[in-house]
Amino acid sequence: MSDIVMAAEAVSKSFKTADRAGRLVLDKVDFHINDGEIVAVLGKSGSGKSTFLRILAGLIEPSGGRVVYRGAEVHGPAQGVAMVFQSFALFPWLTVLGNVELGLEALGVPRQERRERALAAIDLIGLDGFESAYPKELSGGMRQRVGFARALVVNPEVLLLDEPFSALDVLTAETLRGDLVDLWLERRIPTRGILFVSHNIEEAVEIADRIAIFDSDPGKIRSEIPVPLPRPRDWNSAGFRQIVDQVYAMLTTTPGGAGRRGAKPEPISIAYRLPDAPVQQLAGLIDTVADAPYHGRADLPHLADSIGLETDELLPLIETLQLLGFAHVGGGDIELTAAGRVYWDSDIQQRKILFGDHLVRTIPLAAHIRRVLDERPGHRAPRARFQRELEDHLDEEEADEVLETIINWGRHAELFAYDYDSEVLSLENPT
Ligand SMILES: Nc1ncnc2c1ncn2[C@@H]1O[C@H](COP(=O)(O)OP(=O)(O)OP(=O)(O)O)[C@@H](O)[C@H]1O
Ligand SMILES: [Mg+2]
Repeated sequence: MSDIVMAAEAVSKSFKTADRAGRLVLDKVDFHINDGEIVAVLGKSGSGKSTFLRILAGLIEPSGGRVVYRGAEVHGPAQGVAMVFQSFALFPWLTVLGNVELGLEALGVPRQERRERALAAIDLIGLDGFESAYPKELSGGMRQRVGFARALVVNPEVLLLDEPFSALDVLTAETLRGDLVDLWLERRIPTRGILFVSHNIEEAVEIADRIAIFDSDPGKIRSEIPVPLPRPRDWNSAGFRQIVDQVYAMLTTTPGGAGRRGAKPEPISIAYRLPDAPVQQLAGLIDTVADAPYHGRADLPHLADSIGLETDELLPLIETLQLLGFAHVGGGDIELTAAGRVYWDSDIQQRKILFGDHLVRTIPLAAHIRRVLDERPGHRAPRARFQRELEDHLDEEEADEVLETIINWGRHAELFAYDYDSEVLSLENPT
């Protein structure tokens, strides 16, 4: 078990930005996949998980460090390593068989052998009978099976999966996930190591032997949690729930350890990638946690279940409440702070004031925008002014998203106004 199948050594990656300074997305990531191991990777959106997988697959070069596979550095797509993406780009003019064979063509496998191996892979993944179907005739789940067949046909030693189930509905995802785990456990595929990115905690705990948690800005592995549970795994067993709790606790720790009770949150930077959290949902979450049966403190997985939100929908809300100082998270529980309780107890107008007050105190970008508007003679500034500023640190799309979020929050709190037609921020209504 201790043989290493693939290793990343101090892998860094930076992408060019508008100001040419470059943006560090991965910071000296050390990581390895052991023989016989499935590793899950969890982390916030934008933390560099896909970038890391692409580097392991040899699809992009790291800016620093190296990937070692079979005793050699990886440069370019490595034979023996296959990747499955969230949605597979199948060629619409090729049949299922044609799409799967394609994976072998690049390897120079002779025609007859190509056909036989493709048929076997199609059979393995449960698509027999659909060899001559075209992608448009298939459901999303079946298309993703074609994606898996195309990866498995090369008999990969390492399988890299980037959210392969997340575009599928819950039941389809569950079936395909179960089938993959069966193939692996029954050793019907020659694969020796699997690394898969997920945004679903339970999915990760179900499949993985080890869970790696990615930190963002810059991306690195914050911690690893072993999952020593017997298989098949029961989602409701005490052991399973305990690990789910542990992972929740890790994922909800904000910068500077604000997640730990009593710890003072470290200030965030002006270009901090604010979670996209609608104010209505934040208020709803505070109400839910404050009310029965939680009375101010809730077990996160339980809470997610009871309000029917996926992890990736709930986490931005929780992070925002933590950043704003309305809640803290520890040991897989969320607990309202004194301010959070006051918020819950307030009427709409008081809530706005409290929200604005916390916004200015805890979110540097909110304070900055307000200061600029206060200082300008006409108390007006074009959105582009802040956009440019943020683009020193973020790419265009992210800067845009962060601004969108802060504008929504700021307008709600009546900290400033925004006119969508002229794209100008101002102090028109606010006092
Ligand atoms: N080709 C590129 N050029 C510039 N920046 C990029 C490029 N690819 C990724 N990035 C940036 O790198 C960061 C990490 O992106 P990546 O897609 O690896 O994150 P992720 O963890 O997979 O996110 P998600 O959970 O949303 O899939 C993001 O900020 C993204 O904008
Ligand atoms: Mg990704």
